[in-house]
Amino acid sequence: MLRECCEIELHESKEYPPSREELIKKIRDKDALLCLLTDKIDAEVMDAAPNLKVISTYSVGFDHIDIPEATKRGIYVTHTPGVLTDAVAEFTVGLILAVTRRIVEADKIIRSGQWDKPWNPYFLTGPELKGKTIGLIGLGRIGVATAKRLSSFEVKILYYDLERRWDVETVLPNMQFADIDTVLSESDIVSIHVPLTKDTYHLINEEKLKKMKKTAYLINTARGPVVDTEALVKALREGWIAGAALDVFEQEPLPPTHPLTKFDNVVLAPHIASATIEARQRMAELAARNLIAVLKGEMPPALVNKEVLKIRPLEKVKMI
Ligand code: DGY
Repeated sequence: MLRECCEIELHESKEYPPSREELIKKIRDKDALLCLLTDKIDAEVMDAAPNLKVISTYSVGFDHIDIPEATKRGIYVTHTPGVLTDAVAEFTVGLILAVTRRIVEADKIIRSGQWDKPWNPYFLTGPELKGKTIGLIGLGRIGVATAKRLSSFEVKILYYDLERRWDVETVLPNMQFADIDTVLSESDIVSIHVPLTKDTYHLINEEKLKKMKKTAYLINTARGPVVDTEALVKALREGWIAGAALDVFEQEPLPPTHPLTKFDNVVLAPHIASATIEARQRMAELAARNLIAVLKGEMPPALVNKEVLKIRPLEKVKMI
């Protein structure tokens, strides 16, 4: 799609993601940037690109981009909401089942030759979902899609968000709005679905983890820094919670020596919640459509910084 209307410089080197120096060098004469969540786009990068009109990220999250700095410079920032919602919701359900029903642990037991006794009623037991309370921290698109899927397990869902979602409660009568502390203290499983902002950084810290039930599980498919990792390791070590399933981390890639890798009651995934073939294809298409729209002087399908329209009105750029 991009090649049809733009000249492209593709980062193809083995070094991945591109180094900051390379990014700053290559972006100098560019009108548009299509980046990934691994590219930190801040004031320094934008200053190096006086012609930059659009930053299109191939992700729904945009915490790697300094939005106020982009807006100030009249740069449009776009992202890929909606197209990965189902993939992430499906994966969240997968993580919940994996950690509560000990699926990864069970697999490891067989592969390491530890399944050496006959069937036993107490072997690898875990809690049933039916009748349990699930807590959702954040009820945006992904939170709602997760709630819909989990509802089929006949659970009660407590959710916390900045606003009460009457529209969702009407469709899913098993849902109840609550403050964050109630969600944490009454839920058997707590799943995080908030974006990373300065307000959600370390939202789940030592104090919040202590509010959870000792039998509860924490699931994170949002962003690593929403959870204070050190506090989580302490919570797991000291048994404040029963386990965790994590797809995102403060440090990515997570080193194999990290303390989180030492717990059998923790399921780890390498930031792949959106990794269905379909979602990744749709993300690519939406990222391209966003970028092309801005260059054509048209409203992009998923603009992050709407205020930019007042700073630099949309205008067609010469294209090939
Ligand atoms: C996103 O899009 O922000 C996810 O973390 C990766 O798909």
